[in-house]
Amino acid sequence: MLILGLESSCDETAAALVTDEGRVLAHRLAGQEAAHAPYGGVVPEIAARAHVEALEPLIQAAFADAGVTLAEVDAVAATAGPGLIGGVMVGLVTGKALAHAANKPLIAVNHLEGHALSPRLADRDLAFPYLLLLVSGGHCQLLLVEGVGRYRRLATTIDDAVGEAFDKTAKLLGLGYPGGPAVERLAQEGDPAAVPLPRPLKGAAEPHFSFAGLKSAVARAVGGHAPADIAASFQLAVVECLIDRTRRALAVAPQATALVVAGGVAANGAVRGALEALAAEHDLRFVAPPGWLCTDNAAMIAWAGVERFAAGLTDPLDVAARPRWPL
Ligand code: KG4
Ligand code: ZN
Repeated sequence: MLILGLESSCDETAAALVTDEGRVLAHRLAGQEAAHAPYGGVVPEIAARAHVEALEPLIQAAFADAGVTLAEVDAVAATAGPGLIGGVMVGLVTGKALAHAANKPLIAVNHLEGHALSPRLADRDLAFPYLLLLVSGGHCQLLLVEGVGRYRRLATTIDDAVGEAFDKTAKLLGLGYPGGPAVERLAQEGDPAAVPLPRPLKGAAEPHFSFAGLKSAVARAVGGHAPADIAASFQLAVVECLIDRTRRALAVAPQATALVVAGGVAANGAVRGALEALAAEHDLRFVAPPGWLCTDNAAMIAWAGVERFAAGLTDPLDVAARPRWPL
């Protein structure tokens, strides 16, 4: 089985070709960092226009890389939400057009499901159910992944997403956008004990997250401490919150057979290391996709397409793009 995947829900345009054996035959990506950098964040209108320009050449390049044609794919999978609606529509309409032209089924993929199933592309032995910490620019959730299309949300953030906290901290420190990788680099030169920062909701009974207070505390610390110390102290506070909340979720979901992390923030080495230790402590397998598969990409959308197609889940060509779409 061969699936074409398209992703355009935020600021990455991507196309990939993935088989049901988990072979990534092609995976092309065009970032828009330069276009958004002057604004310190993603501008939806600029993003949508950039997707229009980038998507078609990327699809052609992906087919050339893989040495296959549209006629050889079994279905077309495109992100249908959640995300910036203009961008989502560009990818979904393109997917519909290709599916219609080649007479192939369409699979409308929830972007979060792409992240949630990506660990099974990275590790073909990963079985359900697993506890997933989904940490990205727009989301911070703990999900019990019971099967394809079966996601039980155990926790979510009550204010900011964790990637958003990284991006805002980067902005406060003058590190530019996107902030996560820049904060991680700077943190390596700092003292994580130098700046006293809060650990919001640490110890709370419900496994929810909160990062707004941490962001405000970072804003107050700026100027009074070395930027590297702020970055290191911030990253440690985030890691401690994520670990405390994940530990709580493991207590309420003992059926999980593995601890899994996905989403852009899963590319962070400190976050991965701490979760790996937590998994070991609980005698659980730990799975984290490689960095390129953690941040937005189309291979995870193609893979979600593989899993949905195998389960007989396809969508009509009039399926709607959804800016909000909880898993
Ligand atoms: O999953 P993703 O690529 O896009 C969304 O669906 O949101 O996640 C992007 C987020 C951004 O907030 C970015 O700063 C963060 O992931 N990120 C990181 C790292 N790499 C990306 N955060 C911390 N450390 C990193 N190395
Ligand atoms: Zn994402």
